[in-house]
Amino acid sequence: MRKNIVAGNWKMNKTLQEGIALAKELNEVLTADKPNCDVVICTPFIHLASVTPLVDPSLMGVGAENCADKAEGAYTGEVSAAMVASTGAKYVILGHSERRAYYGETVAILEEKVKLALANNLTPIFCIGEVLEEREAGKQNEVVAAQLASVFSLSPADFGKIVLAYEPVWAIGTGKTATPAQAQEIHAFIRSLVAGKYGKEIADNCSILYGGSCKPSNAKELFVNPDVDGGLIGGAALKAADFKGIIDAFK
Ligand code: 13P
Repeated sequence: MRKNIVAGNWKMNKTLQEGIALAKELNEVLTADKPNCDVVICTPFIHLASVTPLVDPSLMGVGAENCADKAEGAYTGEVSAAMVASTGAKYVILGHSERRAYYGETVAILEEKVKLALANNLTPIFCIGEVLEEREAGKQNEVVAAQLASVFSLSPADFGKIVLAYEPVWAIGTGKTATPAQAQEIHAFIRSLVAGKYGKEIADNCSILYGGSCKPSNAKELFVNPDVDGGLIGGAALKAADFKGIIDAFK
């Protein structure tokens, strides 16, 4: 069954103390008013071990924002998928456009990361999306198809475990959201690519989240589309009330 998911990506925000306070607040708010969708918070690495025991796993999953493309060893400063999993985290964002653009993450590197995440029982939230020039040149379909190559080497069973997130780079942190029609059109295209590779059943079961300036005021009109199964939220995930407002789009 396809799941509706609202996932927060805290990016490089919040000290440990601030992150703990936000996780506690979210847990309280969602305990008082249960969500109608799966909820995930993806935090900086150093928050994970403190945050996971604070949240009720029946209300909220916790995830990392990245993991290494190597299993272990002499890779100073890196954090492995096994280390992420050892904190109790269940998810990991991979392929975020900020990682691709600023840290040179290629299709091949991401393929390794996705495989290591799955081998450690983490659910990858795998991000794809075009930059503005590509959208203006009408190349968005071509771009997302090429980015999917990282996950299209997976077995059908492994592909069935991942979550996809379409995040047009021109909409991230810009206040410029994709229109519901733009989101639906490309989400349906992404699902058709999955169906072409893995068949209709796996495609129908695949959650495809939208990310990019999603907020309480526009979440419902985006999520109501048949191929938009929730959101990956940046800025609006940093305040419990805003994040809850987006979660409530499923009510
Ligand atoms: P914003 O919601 O801040 O636009 O960020 C989206 C995003 O990049 C989530 O991964």
